Amino acid sequence: MPSSTVIHHLKSWIIPLSLFLKISLTLSTFLLLLVFFHKVHLYNRTPEFNFNHSVQHYTTTAAPVVGDREPTNISHILFGLGGSAKTWPKRRPYVELYWQPNVTRGFVWMDQKPPENETWPQTSPPYKVSANTSSFNYTCWYGDPSAVRLTRIVKESFELGLKNVRWFVMGDDDTLFFPENLVTVLNKYDHNDLYYIGTDSESVEQDVIFSYKNAFGGGGYAISYPLAEELVKILDGCINRYAQLYGGDQKIQACVSEIGVQTTKERGFHQVDIRGSSYGLLAAHPVAPLVSLHHVEAVDQLFPSLNRVESYRKLVTAYKMDPGRISQQSICYDLQRNWSISVSWGYSVQLYPSLMMAKELEKVLGTFQTWASWSDEPFVFDVRSVSDPCGRPVVYFLDRVESVGNGDTRSTYIRYGDVLEKKCDGENYTATMRVDLVVVTAPQFTRDLWNKAPRRQCCEVMNNKSDAVESTVEIKIRGCHRFESLTPP
Ligand SMILES: *[C@@H]1O[C@H](CO)[C@@H](O)[C@H](O)[C@H]1NC(C)=O
Ligand SMILES: *[C@@H]1O[C@H](CO)[C@@H](O)[C@H](O)[C@H]1NC(C)=O
Ligand SMILES: *[C@@H]1O[C@H](CO)[C@@H](O)[C@H](O)[C@H]1NC(C)=O
Ligand SMILES: *[C@@H]1O[C@H](CO)[C@@H](O)[C@H](O)[C@H]1NC(C)=O
Ligand SMILES: *[C@@H]1O[C@H](CO)[C@@H](O)[C@H](O)[C@H]1NC(C)=O
Ligand SMILES: *[C@@H]1O[C@H](CO)[C@@H](O)[C@H](O)[C@H]1NC(C)=O
Ligand SMILES: *[C@@H]1O[C@H](CO)[C@@H](O)[C@H](O)[C@H]1NC(C)=O
Ligand SMILES: *[C@@H]1O[C@H](CO)[C@@H](O)[C@H](O)[C@H]1NC(C)=O
Ligand SMILES: *[C@@H]1O[C@H](CO)[C@@H](O)[C@H](O)[C@H]1NC(C)=O
Repeated sequence: MPSSTVIHHLKSWIIPLSLFLKISLTLSTFLLLLVFFHKVHLYNRTPEFNFNHSVQHYTTTAAPVVGDREPTNISHILFGLGGSAKTWPKRRPYVELYWQPNVTRGFVWMDQKPPENETWPQTSPPYKVSANTSSFNYTCWYGDPSAVRLTRIVKESFELGLKNVRWFVMGDDDTLFFPENLVTVLNKYDHNDLYYIGTDSESVEQDVIFSYKNAFGGGGYAISYPLAEELVKILDGCINRYAQLYGGDQKIQACVSEIGVQTTKERGFHQVDIRGSSYGLLAAHPVAPLVSLHHVEAVDQLFPSLNRVESYRKLVTAYKMDPGRISQQSICYDLQRNWSISVSWGYSVQLYPSLMMAKELEKVLGTFQTWASWSDEPFVFDVRSVSDPCGRPVVYFLDRVESVGNGDTRSTYIRYGDVLEKKCDGENYTATMRVDLVVVTAPQFTRDLWNKAPRRQCCEVMNNKSDAVESTVEIKIRGCHRFESLTPP
């Protein structure tokens, strides 16, 4: 064989081989990571506890009154949180940030009874111990059978037979819910109909493995009462039929799919299947109420100067001042100075020394990687790279929010040094770097705004005169005027 042919032959092997190696390496890294994280995430079940799983005394009289058209409020939601003895002590502080005893209803479902000598705190959701699920089949080799227990939370919640429940909302113990916004979202849908509401994962690799139709469990999902009623009839069978599926959320989705109900996607649920900083995600949130943030422990703290719990507490503080507006984006220009300003209300402000297109500013800054393989892409939304130092903003973080009457707020944001530091050299950033404070006034984001077509709210720079104090930028957020657009001159 002439050597060139040999080389050709070799090439035709080497390319597929290297491609194969690359793919299988990626795949095995992925699976290794999956096994690893699942070990971190899931828990051991103790064999001692024997829960008497009798359903005879349960009632199912909780069916909503037909024709009940009163608006949905927090009392109509029953939370079912997946917990465990191992994870709960560390995650409890996050849940308590949003849990309001005697207002939010529901339970954290544990794998075992808490120690007898410790009193369960009033500030936590009450707990229930899940039934023994060892008789169910679970065959996902990289998963843990505790997924079966988590799958059955919706069924065990339903069988409690509690009154006036319109929605069963599932979540994890490392999920932070924004209950007011959850109510806003659920109120849009008829609870007498069959609904399965949630959203997919941010990381495409997760959606490919776990399905785009899966309402990911960590981000949380809502099941209307009538759907729950149908689901619980077939759920145990589904658990065995879909024994090979990894997660409880997937098993639920498989079962919902047997009923034929489709996933209603709401973009305010966040599985947060990302690694690193969720900054970009929250700084350019879609125009939808912020409903949940999962993986509160897995991602970096939201505010660089605070730890994780304190970070989320700060966000929740702002949320309580104006629930609908939390993390909502507004964008405006200062045409005097040719600056662009992007506000994520209650969280962060970005200042750019140029007139950026709205289309660019709406993109999520890629401050994170994918969940399983820690890659830079792909995600289910547009990402703007932070690798170009000339495209980086000067970043400000929330300091405080004050009420100025009428539901209006005044929030202040302080420049924080080293997030996305190393901006490009040159004069462009000199003036923007002089600004160390941004003050934002905004009217209350009322619930009825969410019943309109989604539109980003407008803002304007109030101290754009040349004699303005240079170290502060004052922004006013408001609804957009007719024919108003963010069009560069
Ligand atoms: C669950 O039931 C199985 C068999 O019925 C039993 O072997 C196991 O100990 C039980 N586990 C718990 C946690 O009670
Ligand atoms: C389980 O509870 C039911 C109803 O309360 C009771 O009749 C039954 O004896 C209990 N079974 C066990 C094994 O404790
Ligand atoms: C929620 O709505 C019901 C009517 O469906 C009402 O009776 C109840 O008082 C409301 N609860 C809250 C907390 O608003
Ligand atoms: C919740 O309600 C119960 C019963 O009405 C009451 O005993 C308890 O103090 C309340 N807890 C809080 C934190 O308000
Ligand atoms: C409860 O008992 C366990 C050991 O049985 C002990 O480690 C723990 O400190 C005790 N907790 C309290 C609050 O006394
Ligand atoms: C569980 O799996 C075993 C082995 O594949 C099978 O024999 C059994 O029928 C399954 N059980 C159920 C309830 O599906
Ligand atoms: C802003 O941009 C316009 C158009 O590009 C330019 O004419 C003007 O000089 C710029 N102003 C400043 C202050 O840079
Ligand atoms: C400064 O901004 C102008 C227009 O906004 C741009 O053309 C120029 O490349 C920028 N300079 C640097 C060093 O980024
Ligand atoms: C300053 O901002 C106000 C409010 O948006 C606007 O009416 C005015 O035209 C701006 N002035 C300049 C010079 O850009």
